[in-house]
Amino acid sequence: MAEQKATNVHWHEGDITRDHRAKILGHRGATIWFTGLSGSGKSTVAVELEGVLHEHGVLAYRLDGDNVRMGINKNLGFSAEDRTENIRRIGEVAKLFADSGVIALSSFISPYVADRDAVRELHAAAGIDFIEVFVDCSLEAAESRDPKGLYKKARAGEIKNFTGIDDPYEAPPAAEIHLHSDEQSLDEEVARILQELRGRGIIPD
Ligand code: ADX
Repeated sequence: MAEQKATNVHWHEGDITRDHRAKILGHRGATIWFTGLSGSGKSTVAVELEGVLHEHGVLAYRLDGDNVRMGINKNLGFSAEDRTENIRRIGEVAKLFADSGVIALSSFISPYVADRDAVRELHAAAGIDFIEVFVDCSLEAAESRDPKGLYKKARAGEIKNFTGIDDPYEAPPAAEIHLHSDEQSLDEEVARILQELRGRGIIPD
């Protein structure tokens, strides 16, 4: 848990609520949290889903590991502490997007159960939907895809602490959605998530 350094700070409540924003948009906000190995297909599903939601007139926004690490989290590396801080910050950012009425699509390896559960609790405390999506894919399949050539470098010892090679990945014990990206089609994966969003009444039927 990150330490609260600032003292004498007070929450300032506004007049416009989440319900007001949902009325303008025609749907509610939520966070869809993709987790899985590098190369498992998190970003691929998020990009496809964002496109389909857009076609349905639903506002979604992607937060992606590599992109975010070039900006807000450029001062973080891949130690356990830095990964935890990476996920804590993104969890807060996703919550802000979801609170604003947007569907936040967050794609980070997020290898630790405790870090993901902290983000889940953050959302639960605010009454915001949090849908964890495990993009399950064997290490063999992710490594054979190796879209960025990073597994090859990790195997050669050129990258240390690479998730799945010499750093852990803790699979979710109870994700809301469990995809198998080495068996399912992209369309099937997206359909499963849309079904969840409709079932929860986040987006209209
Ligand atoms: S997380 O573990 O903190 O959630 P995040 O999703 O932000 O990771 O970043 C993962 C991406 O960073 C990978 O897809 C890969 O492109 C790159 N990367 C570089 N070094 C590593 C590493 N040691 N372990 C995992 N991914 C790495």
